[in-house]
Amino acid sequence: MEDNKNIDLIIKKLNIKSNELYFSDFKLNDLANKYGTPLYIVDEELIREKCRLFKKAIKDSLKNNGNILYASKALSAKFIYEIIKDEDLGIDVVSTGEIWTAKFSNFDMSNAFFHSNNKTDFDIQFAINNKIGYFVVDSEEELFLIDKFAKEKNIKQNIFIRITPGIDPHTYEKVATGKVDSKFGFSIETGLAEDIIKKALELKNINLIGFHCHVGSQVFDTQVFFDTIDVMVKFIKFIFEKYHFLVAGLNMGGGFAVRYVKSDKQINIYENVFKICEYIKKKFNENSLEMPQIYFEPGRSIVADSSITIYTVGSVKKIPNYKNYISVDGGMGDNIRYALYGAKYTYLPISNVLDEFDETYDIVGRFCESGDELQRNVKLPSNIKRGDRIACLTTGAYQYSMASNYNRVGKPMMIMISNGKIREVIKRETLDDIIRLDV
Ligand SMILES: Cc1ncc(COP(=O)(O)O)c(C=O)c1O
Repeated sequence: MEDNKNIDLIIKKLNIKSNELYFSDFKLNDLANKYGTPLYIVDEELIREKCRLFKKAIKDSLKNNGNILYASKALSAKFIYEIIKDEDLGIDVVSTGEIWTAKFSNFDMSNAFFHSNNKTDFDIQFAINNKIGYFVVDSEEELFLIDKFAKEKNIKQNIFIRITPGIDPHTYEKVATGKVDSKFGFSIETGLAEDIIKKALELKNINLIGFHCHVGSQVFDTQVFFDTIDVMVKFIKFIFEKYHFLVAGLNMGGGFAVRYVKSDKQINIYENVFKICEYIKKKFNENSLEMPQIYFEPGRSIVADSSITIYTVGSVKKIPNYKNYISVDGGMGDNIRYALYGAKYTYLPISNVLDEFDETYDIVGRFCESGDELQRNVKLPSNIKRGDRIACLTTGAYQYSMASNYNRVGKPMMIMISNGKIREVIKRETLDDIIRLDV
């Protein structure tokens, strides 16, 4: 390995040989030549490593009282459910599309939690017909519909209720969900949470298991989880004393932050999750409450830093005294996170990596929107030109899953590195795919 002290190799298995960028021993330029760009590249081992870290942390602290569910909205495709099944994790799904994909990977749906703040009648029936393990109820209408459809099937449906604990997770406003005025869940402060629990306990075809409380995503501060636990345990005690209902499950959601740029703190998953579990035990103990099953629902922290995306540079436009643009062959269609909420990434050239990064560019996409920006003020070499490739790091979460066909551009392909071999896991959309649904 060469001296790369100025290069932000912020994800594992990324390294530099002969001035070229490699990921998991594959030269990125070779992969780009073979598979084309934009190209998502995932490393299977890195995903499995995260699954195991989460599982070990809960096992070491909670013994058999802990469960990890992968929040599959972060990246949903057949191959990922296969890995998650193999690692013996449950899943969180938010749509019939995710349920369907998971089913195609023979995922055991009794180990699936169905979220969404607005499940349609069809969604609810579909989930019940597919024997979903748990609904995470997010509206009163949903509660009554589940009861109705469960009655028609002559079953008692397991549910959790999504509670809004009134916690500010100090993250991007658009991924904060725990505040009282959130569109998700029932807030404790307003009395809506107590009211829906009362109703759920009276319904004959509903089996209320417990509460769910995801407060936000990309949360760096463990204190946010501690504060959430304080609120939730107090509420659980209140409900127990008033209604004699003791939760059998508490789902803390996901939200563990990932390092996208050098200045981001590195989160130690094992330590963080272990500490949170210990705090949960302490709080239940202090309140003389029996420990329920504890669930975590990480999405981003399982897949984000297992992945990179490669683009090819098209035009390089230098507007004297204003700014420099690099346009690439992707953009908001394959990564909308910067346009949506200013989420920052690390970009690197994949050849001549050790050249000086002596110019500042706005990296923009190929889509017809001024807002189609991948990132402003990125330092890269001044000699970058059409045909060169750049890599965007940490792109496993909320990228492919948020991809669109804006401008009728096909979604990129995804390849996975497994045991030193390449497997195509999602094909590149073709022009035929683009018109497939037109009649
Ligand atoms: C209910 C719920 N659980 C889990 C997650 C996963 O969050 P993250 O990917 O930040 O771990 C989300 C993300 O939006 C969520 O809404």
